[in-house]
Amino acid sequence: PPFTTAPAAWASSKPPLLRFLNACHTEFRPETGGAVADYIPELGKADPAHFGISLATLDGHVYEVGDTQVPFTIQSMSKPFVFALALDTLGAARVESIIGVEPSGDPFNSIRLNAENHPFNPMVNAGAIACSGLIYETKGDAAFEHIRQALGRFAGRELDVDDAVYASESATGDRNRAIGYLLRTNAVIKENVAAVLEVYFRQCAILVTARDIAVMAATLANRGVNPVTGEQVMTPYAISRTLSVMTSSGMYDYAGEWIYRIGIPAKSGVGGGILAALPARLGLASYSPKLDKHGNSVRGIKVCEALSSHYDLHML
Ligand code: DON
Repeated sequence: PPFTTAPAAWASSKPPLLRFLNACHTEFRPETGGAVADYIPELGKADPAHFGISLATLDGHVYEVGDTQVPFTIQSMSKPFVFALALDTLGAARVESIIGVEPSGDPFNSIRLNAENHPFNPMVNAGAIACSGLIYETKGDAAFEHIRQALGRFAGRELDVDDAVYASESATGDRNRAIGYLLRTNAVIKENVAAVLEVYFRQCAILVTARDIAVMAATLANRGVNPVTGEQVMTPYAISRTLSVMTSSGMYDYAGEWIYRIGIPAKSGVGGGILAALPARLGLASYSPKLDKHGNSVRGIKVCEALSSHYDLHML
């Protein structure tokens, strides 16, 4: 099959961007594949009809189509931002000494560690929990607030938490707890594993909209300068290394296929979001809760595929 899913109506034309995004929304809305995540019980309440697409350019213009103002939990899309924050808060040497940058080829919740008994990379749960552990190591009880503030600077506004989703994950998150204890026995997490897990569960329950995610992605694409607020949110080093691990591991065991077909650094979340950041070009966000077997949003993948192919955005 061809590697493109551009809406047929636009196959041979280059319409203005907003019209193209509208066409994607119309074309992919009837898509019925996938299932809403419910291993975190509260996530199962998401409305599968919700579908929003937002694109932020580096001059701070934000395009929005569909349900771009509907809040949903950031989930794994928090991981790149907390990795960048860890690099800037603790220094690259400390972070890079305990978290690898190799794709695992495993699902996001795999308990397997690498040959050094370290997480494969910061995009899988083990690596992300290790990042939360690093922030906890220096900030203690202020760790979550440090994370929430940092993500807010990427979005350009204060972000809240969905307490029900947080409580739901905390009540059922034994697999992540198991990963946490495995990390402590290997000295990746130093101390209070239970507290580190609560930081991680809370960061995953931060509420965002597709518009927020587009601005956050555009900040990654803009070497760490938020194109709407003008603030330098993170160092260019932290941003470039974050985009690197998104490129190799952002879509888990679909990462190779993703970078081959779409060619844009990206990160998904089980809340239904996909964030894609094309360096020096744009930030793209899609929100649609039904996921494929890798935990990636079905409509979101189609949107990214269509945009990449139609505007020739594959970075290679
Ligand atoms: O740890 C978990 O399982 C969730 N809080 C986040 C997982 C996730 O979003 C994976 N992404 N597609």
